Amino acid sequence: MRGLHLLLLVLGGAACATTLATPLPVGTEGGDAAALRLAYTRPSADWPPATIDPGVAFVELGPVPKPKKVDDPAAAAAIELGKLLFFDPRLSGTGEMACASCHDPDLGFADGRTTSFGHGRKVLRRNAPSVLNAGFLPHLFWDGRAASLGDQALMVFENADEMHSDGATVVAKLASSRGYRARFLAAFGDEEPTLERALAALAAYERTLVSDGSSAFDRFLAGDTKALDDSALRGLHLFRTKARCANCHHGPLLTDFAFHDLGLSYYGRGLQDLGRHAVTGDPADVGRFKTPSLRNVARTAPYMHNGLFDLASVVNMYSAGMATLRPKPEQQDDPLFPQKSPLLQRLDLTVEEKGDLIAFLEALNERKRRVRAPELPPIGDVAR
Ligand code: HEC
Ligand code: HEC
Repeated sequence: MRGLHLLLLVLGGAACATTLATPLPVGTEGGDAAALRLAYTRPSADWPPATIDPGVAFVELGPVPKPKKVDDPAAAAAIELGKLLFFDPRLSGTGEMACASCHDPDLGFADGRTTSFGHGRKVLRRNAPSVLNAGFLPHLFWDGRAASLGDQALMVFENADEMHSDGATVVAKLASSRGYRARFLAAFGDEEPTLERALAALAAYERTLVSDGSSAFDRFLAGDTKALDDSALRGLHLFRTKARCANCHHGPLLTDFAFHDLGLSYYGRGLQDLGRHAVTGDPADVGRFKTPSLRNVARTAPYMHNGLFDLASVVNMYSAGMATLRPKPEQQDDPLFPQKSPLLQRLDLTVEEKGDLIAFLEALNERKRRVRAPELPPIGDVAR
């Protein structure tokens, strides 16, 4: 017991060291993985301390809360209705694009593209995030411009470049369908579709898309001490300590739900995207984007709001401390010039450490879900 305490002290002391030059006792000798395993097999409250900067409200990594069992038939009917809406392309302007076109269950509820194709195959500006766990997010979209799933869905329906539709058209299509009317009756006690109800049903379905505890990391948390191999285990420790990831990616979803500038705004250049600034107008928000959840992340390449990077490049960029934009002479006094987050520092990770971090990210992968596209009810079969 004494030995274990001593070991934890040593690990903790090293993890607390603020100078990144101090090498951690990780991955240098075969014995270290065993020591780490012992330390991380304890309840997470007793894990080696994470390397967290002052002012960061760190929450320990952990399991995602399970959704409540739905035993109310109306609530179950709303979820089923929401699933139909999620998969129904007829609600879009062209009749060809559903939510599931860009949030495809087979692609981790994203679309695998750099940036999505929208209406008329217009190339959109941003990468489609996964909708897995979106029900937990206080702000939606990369810039957080939607405060709820309902707001978010309405914005997509009405966006001329995305679903190119509008609330009235969606409601009229649903109202013309016997099958949909029956489902509105079951879910809301009234067969008349309204926009509010349709959005509530979509949100109810999305809230069922929650991490299911099947990842290797979750199994490790639940007591299966072999679920993480040595590399992933070292990656977990790096993630929380030397690599500084847990400053922003923490809690069960591995996000702080906040916005940061990683130096990817391409300020003053062709790909410019000012992120959160467009929502708040605050100069401090230029180039800030929402910290994404990292649950299932290795299944949703490519990455970042612009979809320009694979996982190895992401880790390489973090290791270099991310690119620092230097103001051109004419930008010297520009109040909007983006300020990279001070939480990012040069890490100088070794090749092995980068591999370990990726192994940990891959350990967040969940089992592949088979979500069958539902059979859609006919539309336009109600005499008006
Ligand atoms: C044309 C492709 C496309 C379609 C169709 C589409 N989305 Fe999206 N979705 C995106 C993109 C791209 C983003 C990110 C946009 C941004 O941040 O500005 C996004 C963001 C989201 C988010 C926010 C996730 C997060 O982490 O912030 C949710 C939730 C979502 N979509 C759900 C839906 C629903 C529900 C529908 C159908 C009503 C839908 N999407 C239709 C491409 C699409
Ligand atoms: C300063 C806060 C911060 C730190 C520290 C940080 N991240 Fe991030 N991370 C973000 C933000 C914000 C984004 C989205 C940025 C964007 O799209 O412009 C992001 C995006 C990512 C993505 C892409 C996810 C996706 O779905 O596109 C991965 C993977 C990732 N981070 C992993 C890491 C790892 C690994 C570390 C540690 C080496 C780390 N992050 C450190 C804030 C942070």
